[in-house]
Amino acid sequence: MAEEFQGSLAHVLASTQAVQQAEDDGAPPSVAGGTGRDDVGDFRQWGVVVGGVGEHEGIGARGPGGQRAVQGYRELARSTGRTIPVLVEVDTGMNRVGAAPAAVVKLAEEVSRAPGLEFRGVMTHAGHSHDASDELGIEAVGRQEAAVMGGVREDLEAAGLDVPVASAGSSITSAYLTAADGITEIRPGTYVYNDLRILGRHACTPDALAATVLATVVSTSGRRITIDAGSKTLTPTKDATYGYGHLRHRPGAVFTRLSEEHGVLDARDDLSMPSIGDKVQVLPVHVCVWMDLQAEVYGVRGGRVVERITVDAMRHSL
Ligand SMILES: Cc1ncc(COP(=O)(O)O)c(C=O)c1O
Repeated sequence: MAEEFQGSLAHVLASTQAVQQAEDDGAPPSVAGGTGRDDVGDFRQWGVVVGGVGEHEGIGARGPGGQRAVQGYRELARSTGRTIPVLVEVDTGMNRVGAAPAAVVKLAEEVSRAPGLEFRGVMTHAGHSHDASDELGIEAVGRQEAAVMGGVREDLEAAGLDVPVASAGSSITSAYLTAADGITEIRPGTYVYNDLRILGRHACTPDALAATVLATVVSTSGRRITIDAGSKTLTPTKDATYGYGHLRHRPGAVFTRLSEEHGVLDARDDLSMPSIGDKVQVLPVHVCVWMDLQAEVYGVRGGRVVERITVDAMRHSL
């Protein structure tokens, strides 16, 4: 069966860890949800998220920000005759979207007063943890995320609002969040497969990198290797440590450039050169973007393809 997948431009393999995890859990591996961890919330159950940048204006995570979002969702509730559960997004330092902590109570009160809307709690994403250069830096972001969310919960409760949901935590900050901080669910995403960014932040071990692109060597010259996977497959994301990616079992080969359909590597420090036609496995730098480009991935165990997995979420994030 493996042969069936060879020969196309880029092969996508969700390798042994994801399949093994699924087997242990008795469930098929999947990209979104179905993670096999009962402490991982299914964030999709929440209707909408509101929260402007800084104060009440700006663009919210899923619609126009702040008060305008409340008005829009109120209208949606009225026209559909449904009650819409709402989380307010809190900016815990990423400075992307979300209300400033001091503005959350006011926005939550507007939500809870709005007919057709039900205030269910708060959420945040501390994506700036990826900017930290070491574990201490990540811990500092994670602890700040927990502290800010704990403070916001206290403020909301002091204002008489129930907070059934406090949703936070990513693959690299979840370790620093606990129920004692008032967090009710964590939302790690990348950890399903992991990638070189997560490895570089010491948040996984090399054997926990479960996704690779299977590419073919299409040209060699001196110590140069060209493979048939470029920016359309690997994405142009460049990591300070790992560049555009890393070839499994070829630690001395380094990507020098990507064009759309080709990746060029310098194998100066590699012990041997591959031949044209050889398959190489590329570990991705940022598996989220990479996965979004794939219609299917393949579960592999013992070198054999054991499962085809449709990426239902492909290109559904705009
Ligand atoms: C809103 C939100 N929640 C959760 C996550 C998951 O984060 P990670 O993939 O770092 O675990 C992301 C990732 O981009 C996100 O944007």
